[in-house]
Order: sequence, then C-alpha cells, then structure tokens
Amino acid sequence: MSKSFYITTPIYYVNDKPHIGHAYTTILADVIARFYRQLDYDTFFLTGLDEHGQKVQEAAINRQVEPQVHCDEMAPRFIDLWDKLHISNDDFIRTTEQRHKKVVQYFLQLVFDNGDIYKDEYTGLYSVSEERFITEKEAESENFRDIKELKEINYFFKMSKFQSQLVEYIENNENFIQPIHRRNEILGFLKQPLADLCISRPKSRLNWGIELPFDTDYVTYVWFDALINYITVTGYGKDDNLYNKWWPANYHLIGKDILTTHAVYWPTMLLSAGVPLPKTIFAHGWWLSESAKMSKSIGNVVNPLDLIEKYGVDPVRYYLMREMVLGQDANFTLDSFIKRYNSDLANDFGNLLSRISTLINKNYDGYMPEVSSLGDKEKRLKSISIELVKKFDNNMSRMSINEAIEETLQFVRNINRYFEHMAPWKLVKEDLKSAGTVLYTGAEALRICAVLLSPIMPQRIQILLSVLNTESVDRNWGGLKSGTRLGDHKPLFPRINSDNL
Ligand code: MSP
Repeated sequence: MSKSFYITTPIYYVNDKPHIGHAYTTILADVIARFYRQLDYDTFFLTGLDEHGQKVQEAAINRQVEPQVHCDEMAPRFIDLWDKLHISNDDFIRTTEQRHKKVVQYFLQLVFDNGDIYKDEYTGLYSVSEERFITEKEAESENFRDIKELKEINYFFKMSKFQSQLVEYIENNENFIQPIHRRNEILGFLKQPLADLCISRPKSRLNWGIELPFDTDYVTYVWFDALINYITVTGYGKDDNLYNKWWPANYHLIGKDILTTHAVYWPTMLLSAGVPLPKTIFAHGWWLSESAKMSKSIGNVVNPLDLIEKYGVDPVRYYLMREMVLGQDANFTLDSFIKRYNSDLANDFGNLLSRISTLINKNYDGYMPEVSSLGDKEKRLKSISIELVKKFDNNMSRMSINEAIEETLQFVRNINRYFEHMAPWKLVKEDLKSAGTVLYTGAEALRICAVLLSPIMPQRIQILLSVLNTESVDRNWGGLKSGTRLGDHKPLFPRINSDNL
C-alpha cells in the first residue's frame, strides 16, 4: 500500500481580507505537501473557508445581501490569492456546502445519541465579537469587546466528561501537540476543571448556521461546525475506504491563537464520536510588524499581493519559510526581506546558475561538458550533497523548515567557494577537460539544491531546471546529462537595488 499524508490549514473566516498571516499558514502547508509528494507519499492537502456565524450574518445584513450571496462574493478573494501564490491544495472546503452540512449533522446526532449533549439554561457573559460565552476572569482581562449578559436555553456538549481521557492522551502521545511549549500550555490549562461547551445558538438570535438535527429552533455554534471540516473531506460517514486512507490527519497547522479550540474542543468532540485523534496539531507563531501582531485594526498589515507583484511569488514564499522559526513569532520588515533576497537568492543561488551557464555557453557551445574522473574536491562535494539530502529530510520531518533551507544555502555557498578555488574561468584556457568536470560538478550540486528547494520555490526552480535542460528531480548525484544543450535565461533572481525603493 502506498504511504499517505494528509495536511490541513485552518479554514479562514470568509469575511476577513486575506493578509500575510493567512498566506503564511497556507504557504507552509503547501511547502510541506509538495515535499511529501516529492517523497512519493500519496498526499492530500486541504484548505478552505469558515462561512457561518454572527460576523458573517452581520456583514451580510450591512451589505443588504443574503448571507450565502455575501459568502459567494467574498470567497474568491481567498481562492484567487491561493492561485497567485501557487498553492497546490487538493480540495477546498466551504462550510456552507451540502457535503459539510450533512457531516456536521451526522456527527451531532452521533454525539447526541451517545448522551454527550444536553439542554440547559445558561446565564453568562457573552462576547459578541468572539461569539462565545466568556468567564468573569476573561471579561476582566480587557481582551474582549462588546460583552453583554445573556440568559439562554441552549445545548451543551459534555466536554468535561473527556477531560481526564484527553490529558492522558496528550501525556502518552508526545507528538500530538507541537511545539512542546504549546503542549505544556494545554496541559497547564487542563489542570483546571474543564467546563462544558455551549454548542448551539437559538435561531431567534442567530440563524446563519447549520441546523441542529435534533432541534430545528437552533443552529450549531460556529467552531463546532468549523472543526468538523477536517473530516468532512475525508469521506467520513460516506466512504470508508477514503476515510481510512486519509484519517487521522498527519498535521493540523494552526496559529497559536486557535490552540484551545484545536487541542481541547476538537479532540474531545472526536473522543465522544469515537473518531481517532489527528496525529499532530502544530501551532506556529505570529508574523509581527514592529513587534505588534499584524492586524487590520492596527493597520500594519503587509499585503502579500503587493509584495508578489513587485518581487515575485517565490521570493515571498522563500522569505516566509526561511525567516520564521516554527513555533516562535517572527518580524516582517521590507528591509529584512530585501536583505534576505539579495544575499541568498540573488548573490548565492541565482548567481551560481549564471556563472555556470555563462561559462558553458562561452566555452562549450552551450553543451553540458563531459566529466572526467572526480578528484578529491568533487568527491567531497558529492558526499556532502548526500548528507545534505538526509539532513534536509530530517529537518523537514521535524518542521525545522528554516534550518532545512539554511543548510541547503550553506551548501550553495560551498559550491561557490569550490568555484572560486578551482577558478574554471581560468582553467578553461589551460585545460578544457578539467574545467568541464568542475562545471559539471558545480551544476549537478546546484541541481540537487534546486530539487530540495523546489517545494519552497516551485516556479523559479522549474526555470532553473529547464536552463540546465533536465527533468531530473532525483535527489541522488548524477541526474544531469553531459552533452545536453543549456537553455537561455535571464537572471533567476535579479538583484533588488534598495537605493531605488
Ligand atoms: N476560522 C477560524 C479557524 C477555524 S479552523 C477549524 C479562524 N480563522 S482566521 O481567518 O481568523 O485565522 C486563521 C489563521 O490565521 C489562524 O491560524 C491565525 O493564527 C492565523 N493568523 C492570523 N494573523 C496572523 C499573523 N499575523 N501571523 C501568523 N498567523 C496569523 O481563526
């Protein structure tokens, strides 16, 4: 049986204007999905939109359109952006689709039949912006706007019943919540008694949601609905073969602000329904701008589209992946973007390709030279490349993407040093055969780096490989063929002159 790999992003609020935070998680998932595809895993990559809830209903009322029309008009903002960012998702879920509504109702009925949903009156403090009841302590924290007291009869999910089972699960499964500090945060949170979760909204207050199958006066709380998207697409309740192939997911990628919903609500829901838990919930940090979370209200949002239009998609993907240590926050500045671009992409990587192709065009009529026997230096580069591939895979499987990239770039710098030492531009005048070996060795080492970096920069790497006139995405030494004609090219990453900005 082939190996399978299933990765998800959060489903984004359809109302939001897409920004770098959304783009980041989606690019991250895309890079990981492309990496596993390259390793021949049968890969399933899911992203989508969260379309129910109060905020959507309110926005639709303000625009004087039906909520579904509002969603349909907003959704392309995300869909188009993913297209522009070369996101290779295999499915796109919208929570207003029939297929999802059916699964949510099936799931709710199951949990209800298991005796884990009850009706109760509840008086509490309600945050309109968060769309949930909050504790008094939370109300004091000043993190919530629009708090009001609300008395309501609602349905509750017996989350408390699964508290000790969840704690035990987290303790026995080291990789379930990553990175480790997030796991500790959740274990700390679970030291306090867990409250039950209000999972309904009376239609009299909010009707933009999925109707409860056991009481049509109510719709489902938006988070309870949204989390289920991750199993909807696997064929849960409909196609057991498909479901067994993809579920449990290998990774739910999320931002740290939605950790509790994913690491507490979701697993307890699954425990009640008797569905296995996802293998890993991975929470990344935030992109900050001048150390404040990028957000619409602060007005410091970097628009990914502006950057793409100016500098291209792949440099933006590269920067986001290289600069964030997964699990920590990272600072986005235009200045650091340009520095990173110029040093890694223009100077080290792109220049190496230009050096190679210029010399081959000038001295070998544009044909990849033959290799005579490998000397010590060439053998060393070859053996470092074999080590590099192993380290790369190891870093990727530990989600140390920045390290995987940095080690690849260090190897690129090694190749450049090898050229400086061997000076093929001089050698061609004395010994065309030896110079040919140097050029082939440099080109082959560069090809391997390019193949490793292709999940991060799919488009530019495709150009590089076509310049080297190879389709080989083999990560082993020897993919390049001598005697093939090199393609013409413009600089792969033209230098950005920061004085002209
Ligand atoms: N709809 C919910 C998720 C439901 S999943 C079943 C939601 N949507 S969201 O659109 O508000 O945010 C989605 C993700 O974007 C979160 O993981 C959040 O952490 C991430 N980001 C939003 N701003 C961010 C940054 N400035 N930096 C990095 N990611 C951040 O929550």
